[in-house]
Amino acid sequence: MAQPSVLIIEDEEVVRTALAKRLRMTDCLAEAAATGEEGMKRLGERPADLVLLDYRLPDTDGLELLERIRRRWPDTLVIMMTAYTNVDVAIQAMRLGAHDYVSKPFSLDEMMVVVDKALETKHLRTEVRRLQTTRMQEFAFDQIVARSPKMVEIVDLLKNLAVSEARTILLQGESGTGKDLAAKVLHYNSPRAEHPFMNITCTALPETLLESELFGHEKGAFTDARERKQGLFELAEGGTIFLDEIGDMPRSLQAKLLRFLEEKAFRRVGGTRDLVVDVRIVAATNKDLRRLVSDGEFREDLFYRLNIFPVTLPPLRERADDIPLLVERFIGRYSEEFHKEVTGIDPAALAVMQAYDWPGNVREMRNLIERAMLLSTGGRLTLDSLPMELMIPAVVATDEEGGETQPLVLLGPQGVDLRQVERLLVEQAMELAVGNQSRAAQLLRISRDQLRYRLQKYGLLKANDTGHTS
Ligand SMILES: Nc1ncnc2c1ncn2[C@@H]1O[C@H](COP(=O)(O)OP(=O)(O)OP(=O)(O)O)[C@@H](O)[C@H]1O
Ligand SMILES: [Mg+2]
Repeated sequence: MAQPSVLIIEDEEVVRTALAKRLRMTDCLAEAAATGEEGMKRLGERPADLVLLDYRLPDTDGLELLERIRRRWPDTLVIMMTAYTNVDVAIQAMRLGAHDYVSKPFSLDEMMVVVDKALETKHLRTEVRRLQTTRMQEFAFDQIVARSPKMVEIVDLLKNLAVSEARTILLQGESGTGKDLAAKVLHYNSPRAEHPFMNITCTALPETLLESELFGHEKGAFTDARERKQGLFELAEGGTIFLDEIGDMPRSLQAKLLRFLEEKAFRRVGGTRDLVVDVRIVAATNKDLRRLVSDGEFREDLFYRLNIFPVTLPPLRERADDIPLLVERFIGRYSEEFHKEVTGIDPAALAVMQAYDWPGNVREMRNLIERAMLLSTGGRLTLDSLPMELMIPAVVATDEEGGETQPLVLLGPQGVDLRQVERLLVEQAMELAVGNQSRAAQLLRISRDQLRYRLQKYGLLKANDTGHTS
């Protein structure tokens, strides 16, 4: 922790100096003021973590000063020093937002116990706030890379939903399309951001444990329930619960969840009392929920309830426009993490990535870049940085001298119809050669007979075509 700063506002010189001296011994930055105005001036120059404020001051009333300090520096804690005969002042000070009070006369040791406690509180508050700010940066909207029209639209939708009153949001999409990320971004950009974000995967626990994890249980509800336990629904009060893999939620819990969504109420396992909490449910699934409904595995009523605000994250292969930006983002992230000076990616490598169909979506890409970055020695990522399965070139174009080779069409795991590709190339060659077969054959590096054979095979020969152009 940075050196804590304490300001003493006290007119009695003996007390003032003794306190200041003692505080400095404990590594505090201690300053002192003899009047209220001087105190305010000091704070104006540099706000303190903690103020030790005397109740009786020559120029102002301590309680009035307390109010002014609280208003202007709400993060500054105040310990009120009161005469021990005047309990009312102490009570009033606490009501006006003093963190604590110490009644005079006090020993320095006594005061230091209170000061230490206050500084500890202050430190924890700062820490919580810092973590929250980090979280908010980590999950700001711009963390979702979106350049393709589809994704831009989705980010807009998420922005609207985040600040809306929506109590349930359903995220759908293949594995690795960013549902987790979207759930966190939704939370940390909502008015709920300062309340908890709780995350549970419905497949992670057996049914009974999952129920008690979500809804809590009363003491004695089942053999192992020795104590009452609060569930996530209670703990997340005011915040968001992310129910991942909702498609796998057991049917008995689906009923309980539905009731909660409709009435905001639920009971602990073994409980007889309804509890009401305000939480937003963000559910996610990579399964087709509609299909699960028709297969009888998912309650239809729950599906409709969840499906009020559906967000479907498209697979990466449907938004190749996002790929360059994603690559750039991940290169940046891992450059920093691995302390590597990688500045970008070669166009050929990028082309390979854009042609690949990414069955594992963004996660697959992230992992791939991570690995490439680990192996990289700096400079740019190249074709060599990519795994073989990404680039089985179906067609290789050679320049006139026969030197450079460059993959043009890339074969992804989905395969390709070779005959179709061949037909396309033959057609293109004929077009480029304006129907001149010799020229077209040349372009394709085959003989004229081989070309004619293909023209016939693909029905590209006109009836009166003799193979000669006029
Ligand atoms: N649009 C995006 N921009 C930046 N990073 C993304 C984007 N989409 C996903 N990611 C990153 O890709 C990784 C996988 O995403 P995430 O875990 O959110 O996927 P998921 O849809 O929850 O997958 P699963 O169904 O397997 O749980 C994460 O590291 C996430 O931050
Ligand atoms: Mg996920």
